[in-house]
Amino acid sequence: MCALVDSWLQGLKTAPILYSQRLLLRPICVGDVAHIQKCINDRRVSDNLSYTPHPYTMEMAEIWTRNVDKGMGQGTCCYWTICDGKTNNFIGSMGVSLYREQENCELHYWVSADEWNKGYCTEASKRTIVHVFEDLNMHRAQVTHREHNVASRNVIEKCGFVLEGKSRESLKRFEKFENVIMYGLLQDEYLALKAKGIY
Ligand SMILES: CC(C)(COP(=O)(O)OP(=O)(O)OC[C@H]1O[C@@H](n2cnc3c(N)ncnc32)[C@H](O)[C@@H]1OP(=O)(O)O)[C@@H](O)C(=O)NCCC(=O)NCCS
Repeated sequence: MCALVDSWLQGLKTAPILYSQRLLLRPICVGDVAHIQKCINDRRVSDNLSYTPHPYTMEMAEIWTRNVDKGMGQGTCCYWTICDGKTNNFIGSMGVSLYREQENCELHYWVSADEWNKGYCTEASKRTIVHVFEDLNMHRAQVTHREHNVASRNVIEKCGFVLEGKSRESLKRFEKFENVIMYGLLQDEYLALKAKGIY
C-alpha cells in the first residue's frame, strides 16, 4: 500500500469527513504537504502561529504531517484539511488535540492568507466543535491565541468560547515574551448556544 493511501486510512480512524455549508474537512494526509509548506512559509501566517520556524521547509512540513498522522492513528489528535466544498481547493488546516481521559480537547487552526476574512475559519471551527461535542461527547473544548492576534480572537468569540484568562508572557516567540489568552467552552454551554441558533 502506498504511503499516501496508508496515511489516509490512518486519518480516517479518528477524523471522519465533515461537511459544512461551503466547506469539506477531510483527514489530513501526506498529499497535503506541499500546500502546508507553502501556506506556513508565508510570514502572514507563520508570524501569528506559536511555534513554527521561518523559513518553513518541505522537510519540516513532511515531518509535521507524519507526526500528526501518527497521532491520529493513536487517537491523540484529529487533523483535517479544510477544502472548498465545491472545488476541493486547499484552504487551510483544522486540528484538535484530544485529552480523552479528561474529555477535553484543544483547537488549532490556520488558513491560507489568500483566503482570509471569508468566514472560513469560523465555519470550520464551528463544524469541528459540533463534532467534538456531539460525536466525540467531549465535556470541554479549549483554545488560545497570542494577545495581538485579533483575527483568531474574532473567530473564538464568534464560536461562543468563554474568556478564561491571560497567561502572562508564557510564550517566547522570535525572542519576545508574549501573553497568551485562554478560552473554554463546556458541553452544556455549547448546547445552550445551539438552542439559541448559534450552532
Ligand atoms: C486566524 C485565522 C485562522 C482566521 O481565519 P479566517 O478564515 O480569516 O477567519 P474568519 O474569516 O472566519 O474570521 C476572521 C475575523 O477576524 C476579523 N479580522 C481579521 N483580521 C483582523 C484585524 N487585523 N483586525 C480586526 N479584525 C480582523 C475578520 O474581519 C473576521 O471577523 P468578521 O467575520 O466579524 O468580519 C487566519 O487569520 C490565520 O490563519 N492566521 C494565521 C494563523 C493563526 O493565527 N492561527 C491561529 C493561531 S491561535
